[in-house]
Amino acid sequence: PLVSMTDMLNKGKENGYAVGQFNINNLEYIQAILQAAEEEKSPVILGVSEGAAKYMGGFNVVVAMVKSLMESYGTTVPVAIHLDHGSSFEKCAQAIHAGFTSVMIDASHSPIEENIALTKKVVELAHIHGVSVEAEVGTVGGEEDGVIGGINYADADECKRLVEEAGIDCLAPALGSVHGPYQGEPNLGFKEMEEILNLTGVPLVLHGGTGIPTKDIQKAVSLGTAKINVNTENQIAQADAVRKTLAEKPDLYDPRKYLGPGSEAIKETVKGKMREFGSSGQA
Ligand code: G3H
Ligand code: ZN
Repeated sequence: PLVSMTDMLNKGKENGYAVGQFNINNLEYIQAILQAAEEEKSPVILGVSEGAAKYMGGFNVVVAMVKSLMESYGTTVPVAIHLDHGSSFEKCAQAIHAGFTSVMIDASHSPIEENIALTKKVVELAHIHGVSVEAEVGTVGGEEDGVIGGINYADADECKRLVEEAGIDCLAPALGSVHGPYQGEPNLGFKEMEEILNLTGVPLVLHGGTGIPTKDIQKAVSLGTAKINVNTENQIAQADAVRKTLAEKPDLYDPRKYLGPGSEAIKETVKGKMREFGSSGQA
């Protein structure tokens, strides 16, 4: 069923596993990720950035594709459609009205007072519709849809204030993760993560999941991380498979013949992540 993230993340936090947010970029991603979740019997979060939604034709088109595919597949696992890095109250409201079951309002680039005020407004609307809300403190490095951020660690007291004053369902404290490939080993702030977990008590979110070693994933899960976002790793897997297929058969022109291997690559990458995060079999 289509659900908000709240129950699936609280279950993950209580039982020591994380649920993957896998960003969707087009039809093939929705197909591959839904198939992976069903085969792994894993809850799943379909992350949708504003840029990806625009590319696919808008929030309504995204919801229609997801709902139709879930019906056609007979999907039994819990699925959330989540606005990733929502940039304004209006965008969050549009996504909620289109049928998204979860939104992130990312006001982490604003001073904490503005972040709290805006996030509180989004929570008030979202919770009327049973929609979950994620917010962020500090800034994740790297680039996401052209938004380039420098790494700026989350402040624990600001995290506590945002959770208590805005009433969010999960929190993304930026603690050294980066969107896109890491230059060298990631250096996550686990000490700060533990402090924030103890101060806030809500499921934590790790952005920039691509390229984080399993040992760090497991440590983050042990410190309350119950949602891990992955996009780049799936995009690289798909691109490599399509490139390889076209290199082997340069005369190929039927899109199903070269996009098919790409979808298979996404599916296998996602299934591996679900096992690594411990969400397989938890649906
Ligand atoms: O919100 C999306 C994720 O943080 C994507 O991160 O592309 O590094 O896996 P990634
Ligand atoms: Zn992110």
